[in-house]
Amino acid sequence: MTANQVQGPAIRVQGLEKSYKELRVLRGVDFDVARGSIFALLGSNGAGKTTAVKILSTLLKADAGTASVNGFDVATQAADVRESISLTGQFAAVDEILSGRENLVLVARLRHLKDPGKIADDLLDRFSLTDAGARKASTYSGGMRRRLDIAMSLVGNPPVIFLDEPTTGLDPQARIEVWQTVRELADRGTTVLLTTQYLDEAEQLADRIAILHEGRIIVNGTLAELKQLLPPAKVEYVEKQPTLEDVFLTLVGADGKDGTPAMTALSAQTRKEQR
Ligand SMILES: Nc1ncnc2c1ncn2[C@@H]1O[C@H](COP(=O)(O)OP(=O)(O)OP(=O)(O)O)[C@@H](O)[C@H]1O
Ligand SMILES: [Mg+2]
Repeated sequence: MTANQVQGPAIRVQGLEKSYKELRVLRGVDFDVARGSIFALLGSNGAGKTTAVKILSTLLKADAGTASVNGFDVATQAADVRESISLTGQFAAVDEILSGRENLVLVARLRHLKDPGKIADDLLDRFSLTDAGARKASTYSGGMRRRLDIAMSLVGNPPVIFLDEPTTGLDPQARIEVWQTVRELADRGTTVLLTTQYLDEAEQLADRIAILHEGRIIVNGTLAELKQLLPPAKVEYVEKQPTLEDVFLTLVGADGKDGTPAMTALSAQTRKEQR
């Protein structure tokens, strides 16, 4: 069934709209995600990233517009969409009382898969968690827990995976581990849509980057294309390419009116690092 749906983009979003009462969060969102690619949806707090991911994963209904995932319409073929995806939210779905292996076995059982033990062992190996597999997840570091969470969402090999802020709250080392995991996923042909507020995350990982602002996608392109939107800036004696952050802040505005303290702090930190 799923194998028949190989033509066309993995995700197609056209004219998507969603309001909560009078708050118009999505006001006509359009984008496509090519199969096997990593697509980053960037936006400030409250831009509507999670809302978009919830619609794409059938947890929420759109008010207008269409969206398809793996060739299936999210509104009319929700069950097929659910079979094609996994969703990893910001808060890990890991059961703390169980070991890493038991968590994986549980998910495989819930999905009625054959040989849950082997599936669990393969995923532990793939995510470098074999040694920790027998330990309770409550003893895992943040990075290990997030890796286990992503591993759990891969049980059953869904072709499309949604990662909503996969590295929020992780330290730099753990973030790099998660990035490696995401790259490996894409290398194996999985389509990844991730949301992030970390501009360096999008720079590091994404084949294409879209910025969601005031309910619409205001730019969508490769990192190189986005950088071309701004001229290279002169910094002291060194000619420097604009960073994705420069592009983002110029397009979205750095006045913080959308409540972007994290973005502003990040921008200050990055500026410091560049000195
Ligand atoms: N169930 C809801 N009822 C009312 N308003 C909501 C609901 N869910 C989200 N919102 C509002 O919709 C807007 C978009 O929220 P959303 O969670 O999609 O943003 P986001 O881009 O994921 O933000 P963040 O970066 O903080 O995760 C916010 O203003 C939020 O307060
Ligand atoms: Mg969110």
